[in-house]
Amino acid sequence: MTVFDAHFAAALQKRETAGTRRSLRPVTRETGAILRDGQRLIDVSSNDYLGLADHPLLRERAADWALRYGTGARASRLVCGTLDLHHAVEEKLARFKHCDAALLFASGWQANASVVPALCALSVAQTGHPMIVFSDRLNHASLHHGCAAAGVRQVRFRHNDLAHLETLLKREAATPGLRMIVTESVFSMDGDRADIPALRALADRYDAFLYVDEAHATGVLGPHGQGLSGGLADLTMGTCSKALGGMGAYIAGSRLLCDYLINHASGFIYSTALPPAVLGAIDAALDVIPGMDTERTTLLGQAETLRPLLNNAGFDTAESTTQIVPVLIGEAQRALDVATALESEGLLAVAIRPPTVPAGTARLRIALHAGLQDADIKRLAEAIIRLAGNEQ
Ligand SMILES: Cc1ncc(COP(=O)(O)O)c(C=O)c1O
Repeated sequence: MTVFDAHFAAALQKRETAGTRRSLRPVTRETGAILRDGQRLIDVSSNDYLGLADHPLLRERAADWALRYGTGARASRLVCGTLDLHHAVEEKLARFKHCDAALLFASGWQANASVVPALCALSVAQTGHPMIVFSDRLNHASLHHGCAAAGVRQVRFRHNDLAHLETLLKREAATPGLRMIVTESVFSMDGDRADIPALRALADRYDAFLYVDEAHATGVLGPHGQGLSGGLADLTMGTCSKALGGMGAYIAGSRLLCDYLINHASGFIYSTALPPAVLGAIDAALDVIPGMDTERTTLLGQAETLRPLLNNAGFDTAESTTQIVPVLIGEAQRALDVATALESEGLLAVAIRPPTVPAGTARLRIALHAGLQDADIKRLAEAIIRLAGNEQ
């Protein structure tokens, strides 16, 4: 018992009533398979888009580096946690992203949540005024968290509406302080893309810094899976936890940017360095990803097969053009019911509900992966149409 228990219970009851209470449901993993309660499932919910979490080279290098260098980095980067392995992986990441430098973080959430405040502090230090942060309305929670931690009021533009962004940039043109545009390149819950060249042009016109979260584009889109921001963003955040099949994240950009973050990003300074096994998986992923054009083509082809099957049956898949295909359901409880029914048929298509997505837009978030067969896509579409279709 804690003195807060009655409050915890009341808050959870509120979620329960709204159909948005979250809980943890374990799965079992075997190579290439996912099971729940002994049932083998087809996974269309993970972010392991290229199947690298099962790749032998990643497993081997992760195990090898753990055996050779130990299980932990033992300290934060600035104390004595920086191994030569961190520098080698950062140099490899910088080459992958065609940037001068890269800096590893423990996770994508931690990177966004601490890099945004570090950049905001730059504005205060250099101009005496808060950073003006222009954010896409659908930006990931970690980016919003970073703004909240910095105490800045975000200027939010309508999702992917660059005319609206320009109106806001103009409106704030005389406001003192540095300015920064923050977006995802592929939106995690909608699977649509930001127009990065157009954002670059706006950033140049209004003297803004362009911050691009490439969590879902890295490994999947752009030349050799490099993402969509190549040479255009001032800062790219990429995760190693999705298509790279591991864990951790990185910031890629200029050497000065990375040096600044080493000195100012609290989530970098006050957190233990990534351990050798994690570095080994990242290192191996970077070796295999450039050569996976066939898998990338297969993956995007699957999405191109799935979308019209659903759209022709009256389902809304938003503006998806990527491996993430949302199937909009509407009410949270109904999305949950459809996901449960799909699971009973062997399909793991998890429901995403508010507050992760806006109210009334609960959805199945279909995240495809290159290991799926054509028959899986057809089976999935048929099941969604049959189980969710009658109330469309
Ligand atoms: C757009 C976006 N940014 C950042 C993150 C956080 O990355 P990580 O899972 O590595 O913490 C996610 C994860 O879901 C994401 O979707």
